[in-house]
Amino acid sequence: MPELTDPFGRKIEYLRLSVTDRCDFRCFYCIPKGYKNFTPPESWLTLDETERLVRLFSELGVAKVRLTGGEPLVRQDLPEMIGRLGALPGIEDLSLSTNASRLAQHAGVLREAGVRRINVSLDSLDPAVFHEITQGDLDKVIEGLMAAKEADLRPIKINMVVMKGLNDHEITDMVEFCLLHDFTLRFIETMPVGAAGKDATDYFIDLQEVRDDLERRYDLEPAVMPGAGPASYVRVRGTRLRIGFITPMSQHFCDTCNRVRLSAEGTLYLCLGQQDRVELRPLLRSGMDDEQLKQALRDAIGRKPKRHEFLSQPQNVVRIMSITGG
Ligand code: 5AD
Ligand code: SF4
Repeated sequence: MPELTDPFGRKIEYLRLSVTDRCDFRCFYCIPKGYKNFTPPESWLTLDETERLVRLFSELGVAKVRLTGGEPLVRQDLPEMIGRLGALPGIEDLSLSTNASRLAQHAGVLREAGVRRINVSLDSLDPAVFHEITQGDLDKVIEGLMAAKEADLRPIKINMVVMKGLNDHEITDMVEFCLLHDFTLRFIETMPVGAAGKDATDYFIDLQEVRDDLERRYDLEPAVMPGAGPASYVRVRGTRLRIGFITPMSQHFCDTCNRVRLSAEGTLYLCLGQQDRVELRPLLRSGMDDEQLKQALRDAIGRKPKRHEFLSQPQNVVRIMSITGG
């Protein structure tokens, strides 16, 4: 199978597809207050175009696709999109990242349409704190999570952005919650993506601190997680609970980066922490044939930056997080 390899020898086999930059929540670290510049749906790739691009990526060795947002479930045609992408022969793993606010209605449909693994953002189990961070309703999210469990979507991974003074007192509550429900738990460091992300760095915590604290409370052993990506995992000994640490700031993992990100408008972002990008929509609409488009994808991958520079160049990424979905 032809491969997508970048100038640093990294094989690209994972595509993150942001299907909308809109969201029904307003996590303060993601979307700036009062933000209005959401992209108009008319500018988004059509389902046919999305399917074509994903097929071409798959023919170049990308077998893993994750749908993100914004919040992917605010997009009405998501089940149809999932059905079509899931039916592509080269796509072996189709997953979804969601805030779970609408998961209660959609969990069953998602499973039927071909999604198995889901990641759910959940920063707090306290309704007031949850609302403060997201402007959203915790009850809906818990309802969504329970529906996902019921629909046998698995594994269900909980992503918690840990923030000093905001939710770092809830770490053990979150561990107990995930133990109880058989969810995988992942802690994430805040990143300076867009204006909102930069504000959030005031709350930054090095996850090594969290890990040290957990080591004192629980008996942890190193663990492996299939398809772990950038997270480093431990297991609470004698349980099924795996806990992952995603440390883009304190210990970057760019050397093993295997992914690129496509926005709803068809912009291919080559690194979460850089502005490097290639506009694919005009190419799709220029009448290029599949071979020409594949060459354009290879060329694009040839422009993937070596690493993010969040620490030395925190002003680099001006776009907001919901355009690329983390
Ligand atoms: N820093 C770290 N993670 C972020 N996310 C959004 N904004 C940021 C940020 N500034 C991640 C969160 C959320 C997912 C959708 O994107 O993990 O769960
Ligand atoms: Fe929405 Fe996720 Fe951004 Fe929160 S982090 S505003 S849930 S896209």
